Amino acid sequence: MPVHIPVLLTETVEALAVRPGGRYVDCTLGAGGHAAAILERCLPGGHLLGIDADPAAIEVATARLATYRDSVRLVNDNFAKLGEICREYDFAPVDGILFDLGLSSLQLETAGRGFSFQIDAALDMRFSPAQQLTAADIVNGYSEEELADLIWKFGEEKQSRRIAPRIVHSRPLRTTFDLVKTIERAVGPRRGRIHPATRTFQALRIAVNQELANLEVALGQAVELLHPGGRLVVISYHSLEDRIVKQFMRRESTDCVCPPGTPVCVCGHKASLTIINKKIITPSVSEVQANPRSRSARLRAAERIILAEERFRIVSRPSYMAVDIGGFGYLFLRHEEIGPDFTRAHPEASLTFSGRAD
Ligand SMILES: C[S@@+](CC[C@H](N)C(=O)[O-])C[C@H]1O[C@@H](n2cnc3c(N)ncnc32)[C@H](O)[C@@H]1O
Repeated sequence: MPVHIPVLLTETVEALAVRPGGRYVDCTLGAGGHAAAILERCLPGGHLLGIDADPAAIEVATARLATYRDSVRLVNDNFAKLGEICREYDFAPVDGILFDLGLSSLQLETAGRGFSFQIDAALDMRFSPAQQLTAADIVNGYSEEELADLIWKFGEEKQSRRIAPRIVHSRPLRTTFDLVKTIERAVGPRRGRIHPATRTFQALRIAVNQELANLEVALGQAVELLHPGGRLVVISYHSLEDRIVKQFMRRESTDCVCPPGTPVCVCGHKASLTIINKKIITPSVSEVQANPRSRSARLRAAERIILAEERFRIVSRPSYMAVDIGGFGYLFLRHEEIGPDFTRAHPEASLTFSGRAD
């Protein structure tokens, strides 16, 4: 079976600031390499919720993480439903959330999945067999215009307008090698380091799995799930993903996002994150030598900050409140104890839960 080597492993665990007793979500479990390293550092007392859309990944990770089984919950689902999944398993708030985007070596190298232009297989490319749309549906069903746009938008392929008509004229295309030959007929055989089919395959995979849309949706949910002080870490592998992550973190670490030149803020946006690494983290030369697939990896990390309104939100109904002391635990206090003296002494406290004491 192909082996997946986790990318930027030490850097990821450090960026997540994994600590014993913490709760972590790995949204892209894969073969469980990052998950195992997180579990190593969060035990005793820690827990990990792992998500993957691919049932084959869940199977591999279940075996790999068997020794941690009491501290792990693995879920076969799409991370676009991150908030819903965490609520269902009562797994929030959390101390860290990881996205290691794209596909694993397991998926790339398994015959029959259709992700690799080096292995002849049906044009599938779905992360999950529950998804309807396959790469074959796109190459055989989209108009020339739609195909050219898709290959340009998701593959940043400059030759998209030469490749699309060739695909249309070569239909039906059934296998990855049918597609590779069609692309080579359109743009010529490999000349440089990059195979001419690379970008078209990337575009189809992104479209089949709605990768960019799912990422945008999940990032917003991730921030909501983090404790103050909790970390969001994202490893991306191409510029389209990285741009989404960069823009998201930039926006969420900015108080006002009004268009430049707006005289007075009208958006009311408040920062919920602070960026941890101003400079993106990339693999060392030795990591790239040992694992060439890591070469395009870029890691970005941010920390959840306490919003002003979260800090002293007082709910009137109950007779006591649980006060979250900046992620270090809860203080149970009666209403009358939470006066100006308390809030002055504990500016880091946020009042997050309330209920009846008796
Ligand atoms: C690069 S691999 C992760 C490898 C993993 N970090 C490890 O150490 O083994 C990415 C994984 O994310 C999964 N994935 C991608 N998009 C997903 C989504 N929207 N929802 C759930 N899983 C997704 C893929 O199926 C794949 O297994």
